[in-house]
Amino acid sequence: MKAILCRTHGLPHTLVLAEQPLPPLQPDEVLVKVAFCGVNFPDTLLIQNKYQFKPPLPFSPGGEVAGIVEAVGSDVKHINTGDRVVGMCGWGGFAEYAVVKSIRTFVLPPDINLQAAAATFYNYATAYHALSDRAGLMPGEKLLVLGAAGGAGMAAIELGKLMGATVIAAASTDDKLKLCQRKGADYLINYSIHNVKDAVKDISQGAGIDVIFDVVGGAVAESAIRAIAWRGRYLVVGFASGNVPTFAANIPLLKGASIAGVFWSGFAEKEPAKNASNMNQLMQWHQEGKISQQIYKTYSLANAPQALQDMMDRKIMGKAVVQIR
Ligand SMILES: NC(=O)c1ccc[n+]([C@@H]2O[C@H](COP(=O)([O-])OP(=O)(O)OC[C@H]3O[C@@H](n4cnc5c(N)ncnc54)[C@H](OP(=O)(O)O)[C@@H]3O)[C@@H](O)[C@H]2O)c1
Repeated sequence: MKAILCRTHGLPHTLVLAEQPLPPLQPDEVLVKVAFCGVNFPDTLLIQNKYQFKPPLPFSPGGEVAGIVEAVGSDVKHINTGDRVVGMCGWGGFAEYAVVKSIRTFVLPPDINLQAAAATFYNYATAYHALSDRAGLMPGEKLLVLGAAGGAGMAAIELGKLMGATVIAAASTDDKLKLCQRKGADYLINYSIHNVKDAVKDISQGAGIDVIFDVVGGAVAESAIRAIAWRGRYLVVGFASGNVPTFAANIPLLKGASIAGVFWSGFAEKEPAKNASNMNQLMQWHQEGKISQQIYKTYSLANAPQALQDMMDRKIMGKAVVQIR
C-alpha cells in the first residue's frame, strides 16, 4: 500500500510517500480501507517526537480515518467487514489501510459521508467530553474558547451554542474570528491585539467567564484564567502555542474554581460505554444538521506533508482533510 512515512523525526518536509506492507491486525483491531484522514495538531508533534505517544519508526502520521472495514480481528464482535466507519487510530492514517482499536471505531449512519466523518468526530468528541463531562456546561453560562478557529476550537463553539451557552471566541486574526462568528460565536477577541482578561471582563461586565476551553496554553491561557468567574471551570485541552501554562493556585482558591484536564484518548479507553454514548449523540446531531465541521481544504495523500506544514503555520481555519483514494 501507499503511505506517507516518518522515517526519521523532523518537520513535515522530511516525510516521504512510499510503498509499505499492510499493517498487521491484532485480535481487538479493525483494518480500515481509508478514504479520508483528518489532520490534527498531534500529527505535527508525533513526527517531531514531541508528543506523549512515541510510535516506533517508521510510522505514518494521521490519527483519524474514515473508510470501509476490510477485515476485523478475532475478538471484534460489533463491527463487520464492509461497514462504513470512522476510527481514531492515533497514527497510521496517512495510508491506504490503517488499523484501529475496535473500541475507537464507530459505525457510521448511511447519511454521514466519509469526508465529513474524518473531519468531524475526533474534535467534536473531544469538545463534547470537555464541555459536557468535565465542565458540566449549563445553558446561559459564558464559554470562552481559545484557539477558536482551529479544529477543536470550532467544535467547541458549535457545541457550546447547542448546549445553550453564550460563546466568546478568541483567535489571532480578524479573518479567523469572522469564521468563528459564522459558526455562532456571540463575542470575538483578537488576542494578537487585545489582552484576554481585560476583553472578557468588558464583555461579561466584570462577572468573568464560567468555562474556558483552552487548546493554546502559554501567555494567552495565563491571561484568560484571571478572568474566571466564581465556580468557573478551566478546561486544559492542549498547548498549541508550545508552552504549558502555569497558574498561581490562589486563582482557583479565590474563585472557588476548578482546573479540569481533558484527555479524550484516555476517556475512550477507560470509559468506553460513556464515550460510545457521546459518539451516538454527536452522530445524531450531525444527521439532524445541528453540527458540521468547517472543512478548510482537502489535500491529496502525496500533499499531506503540506497539510501539516499549513497547520504549523497557523493557516488552517477549521479542519484540513487528506483524501487517500
Ligand atoms: N486533550 C485532548 O484529548 C485533545 C484532543 C484533540 C486535540 N487536543 C489538542 O488541542 C490542540 C488543538 O488541536 P487542533 O487539532 O484543534 O489544532 P489546530 O486546528 O491547529 O488549532 C490550534 C489553534 O491554536 C492556535 N495556536 C496558537 N499558537 C499556535 C502555534 N504556535 N502553532 C499552531 N497553532 C497555534 C491557532 O489559532 P490562532 O492562530 O488563532 O492562535 C490554531 O488555530 C492541540 O494541542 C492538540 O494536541 C487535545
